[in-house]
Amino acid sequence: MEIVIVPDAAAGGELIASAIAGLLTRKPDALLGVATGSTPLPIYQALAAKASAGDVDVSRARICQLDEYVGLPPGHPESYRSVVLREVVEPLGLSASSFMGPDGSAEDIAAACADYDRALAGAGGVDLQLLGIGTDGHIGFNEPCSSLSSRTRIKTLTEQTRVDNARFFDSLDEVPHHVITQGIGTILEARHLVLLATGEAKAEAVALTVEGPLAAVVPASALQLHPHATVVVDEAAASKLKLTDYFRATYAAKPAWQSI
Ligand code: GLP
Repeated sequence: MEIVIVPDAAAGGELIASAIAGLLTRKPDALLGVATGSTPLPIYQALAAKASAGDVDVSRARICQLDEYVGLPPGHPESYRSVVLREVVEPLGLSASSFMGPDGSAEDIAAACADYDRALAGAGGVDLQLLGIGTDGHIGFNEPCSSLSSRTRIKTLTEQTRVDNARFFDSLDEVPHHVITQGIGTILEARHLVLLATGEAKAEAVALTVEGPLAAVVPASALQLHPHATVVVDEAAASKLKLTDYFRATYAAKPAWQSI
């Protein structure tokens, strides 16, 4: 696992957007897995800026969703489908046909989950999966004690996650209890995992993810199993790590040609 400590969220967004631009240059139709929440927004802004400046051609990029609420009416502004269309697909000038996600309003949720895993594999697999992290260490919506080999499925949110996400809704009561999320086993199939964490509220979860044992109680620790996982943290999110000197020295000594 590579740990990159950046000065702030904007620097993290720029670094990761550059890695995505590099990927799209090598593979113009790369399948990019995107995360929601506030943390990845600087990545999407930096990538859209590179695309408008003509620094990267994103026109053939394909976008896929990590997770979704269950039971929100189709088109609800806080459904993750709406969020990804608004924050990623439209700013990049892509059409909805370049985007795929699980159907959180399906009658048969179990079938929708299995369909989504099949669709990801049918699309050739995810080339780069962006991840945020919950304050309880979740990735996607894989809450603590999720199986480390889980597939896309329905999950129940912890109260902590519902409270954390209530800021996107008018009240806590409106935050759904159930969600669909790519499983940890599904996420681990992406070719490159890039987790961005910013702010002190994430410091404990980051320390457990990076320096704690591999444990289902900290779902993000599953990144330790992946051969190409990058964790980008700002100073505040890095504040509870013990090996920061080593991580800084390693990144500073990295050959210029080697991207994250
Ligand atoms: C939600 C999403 C996660 C995201 C997390 C953290 O739970 N399902 O993918 O990582 O929120 O969000 P934020 O970046 O806003 O802290």
